[in-house]
Amino acid sequence: MKATEHLAGARFWVLVIALLGAAALVAYSNFASRDLPPEPPSTATPSEVEVSRVENFRLLDQHGESHELFYYSDARAIVLISHGVGCPINRRYSRRINELQAEFAPRGVRFFLLNANPQDDRTDIKKEADEFQMAQPILKDDTQFVVRGLNVTRTAEALVIDTNTWKIVYRGAIDDRLDYGTQRAEAQHHYLQDALQAFLQGDKVEPARTQPRGCLIRLSGKFDAGHPPPTYTVDVAPILRAKCFACHQEGGIGPWTISDYHEVAGWSSMLGEVVRTKRMPPWGADPEYGHYSNDASLTLEEEKTLLAWIEAGTPRGEGADPFQGQAPVDQGTWSLGEPDVILDFPAQVLPATGILPYRYEWIEIPMDEPGWVRAAEIHMGNKRALHHVVILLAKPGRSFQDLLRESNRSCFVAFVAGNTRYEFPAGTGKFVPAGSRFFVQLHYNSTGREEVDDSTQLALYLSDEEPEHELFVYATSDRSFVVPPGAREYPVTAVTTVTRDMVMYDVGPHMHYRGKSSRLIAEYPDGTSEILISVPYYRFDWQMVYRFAEPKRLPKGTRLVSEGVYDNSAQNTQNPDPSQTVRFGIYSRDEMHKCYFSYRYADEDEPQGDASQGDES
Ligand code: HEC
Repeated sequence: MKATEHLAGARFWVLVIALLGAAALVAYSNFASRDLPPEPPSTATPSEVEVSRVENFRLLDQHGESHELFYYSDARAIVLISHGVGCPINRRYSRRINELQAEFAPRGVRFFLLNANPQDDRTDIKKEADEFQMAQPILKDDTQFVVRGLNVTRTAEALVIDTNTWKIVYRGAIDDRLDYGTQRAEAQHHYLQDALQAFLQGDKVEPARTQPRGCLIRLSGKFDAGHPPPTYTVDVAPILRAKCFACHQEGGIGPWTISDYHEVAGWSSMLGEVVRTKRMPPWGADPEYGHYSNDASLTLEEEKTLLAWIEAGTPRGEGADPFQGQAPVDQGTWSLGEPDVILDFPAQVLPATGILPYRYEWIEIPMDEPGWVRAAEIHMGNKRALHHVVILLAKPGRSFQDLLRESNRSCFVAFVAGNTRYEFPAGTGKFVPAGSRFFVQLHYNSTGREEVDDSTQLALYLSDEEPEHELFVYATSDRSFVVPPGAREYPVTAVTTVTRDMVMYDVGPHMHYRGKSSRLIAEYPDGTSEILISVPYYRFDWQMVYRFAEPKRLPKGTRLVSEGVYDNSAQNTQNPDPSQTVRFGIYSRDEMHKCYFSYRYADEDEPQGDASQGDES
């Protein structure tokens, strides 16, 4: 062996020893960091289980705005602080949290409060936040699944999350100023501040864990200790049948099939993820503002049942498998009986992959006489691929250009997968003059293999006589907006004034891929106002029409204000190109701002005036 090799060997051993030493040091400091600061006797139970990685979630805040944790991946760190209305420790920390936010927000730290108290509703939380000047979005963890996942048992616990790894780098008290029933004038240890400081400098966070002081969070219902876990056969299968099976059946649009216990248990982790992030079932309306007859969302109880079942390890339960040997729901028969008119759609051949641009087709309506349509149903020929269908009515002589210009009025009916029939409200119908045509927009998803759709059909059901009321469609609309490149929350509004008393039946916000949220507000002539619908998490891929369980009466003079928020940043994963300035346009790379609604006039006895609404924008 040559001398240089000896030297290399010696260097190697020095390195190994140094590494071992460092490892021992790290192990020691890890141990030290878990040492809790001295504390007076307390009943607090520290969380036993370490959370290795924070799971994604989507929650609404006190203003009804939607926040997805992983959306904030461009922050350097996220601070989550558990919160409860009326908790004295939360209240006494509110100013301090604002100070910390003022110090660290400019350095890329985002602050959120997290409220999982079953007794606190949005009104309570808003009031508390106003009174105690809490300047952070307060996320409502209705299912309590987020606090459970994070092992948070008390309010006023701060968690610092590293957005690179989604690991918790600090958790515990904000500082040592407050304790149960006592407070010091000054904190001696500024745990949260020091942790953020160290983290941002790339230093080790020490201590990484302290004992939080706060009010206990009451876990309720499904998560009560001693509550028997939900089972597949008894609790879970009925929910899947009611809320998921229409799409997740053999040949349906959902990419996996609910066929038996084995299959569902296999998908259960994904199932948990789509429920936590509100991706499934597709539905956007905030339940705080209205009830809808076609509501497809999970109730809070259903969400809890699914999540508790997954948490309990997906127990099967007793009895036969409710899904085994199930025939598909839709067997190709018309659910409303024999149609008066059936229209065949032209065949479509679809490539295996890629985002498929909308397809458009003209379809002749084989009606020699004018007619009143009372209901329509669609048979989606290729259920794996066909996502939604919007049908515009072109009265005789109307061209494509006319339709575009009159698009606020010409929408006839819209269907999405899983929601394929529409009976117009009782006493109403849509008038179709002889010689009309439909102009049809088809949205297909690529499925990973080439697909053909050669059997989509539309059925029309006619009334024998003229209905009491004609059903119309209109939309608020703005075409003048300019969304700057990268803009994260760009608001656009449109206003239309109701010129005759009317009854509104449904609403359908319409934006494209940069659409983030949408609301329709009614400002009544008496000065009061009401949010008719709020869609905090808008998705272009799911063009929903929300039908009011109780139709809305709107007097003449009501201003209808639609407010859309656009996210043209790179954080919006749907964004086709964050570097573009975006304006109105019909293509999905452009944007739109509209909110459609169906209505009838409520003043039919009075002389008929001009039927149009009055746009202000
Ligand atoms: C209206 C049709 C529809 C309904 C109802 C529906 N799904 Fe889906 N589901 C889909 C489609 C389509 C996809 C494929 C992804 C997409 O297009 O967003 C999907 C995807 C999924 C996935 C795969 C993960 C993913 O995001 O691709 C899971 C898991 C899932 N759904 C679970 C559920 C559960 C659970 C329910 C009921 C609580 C449900 N779905 C209700 C249509 C539906």
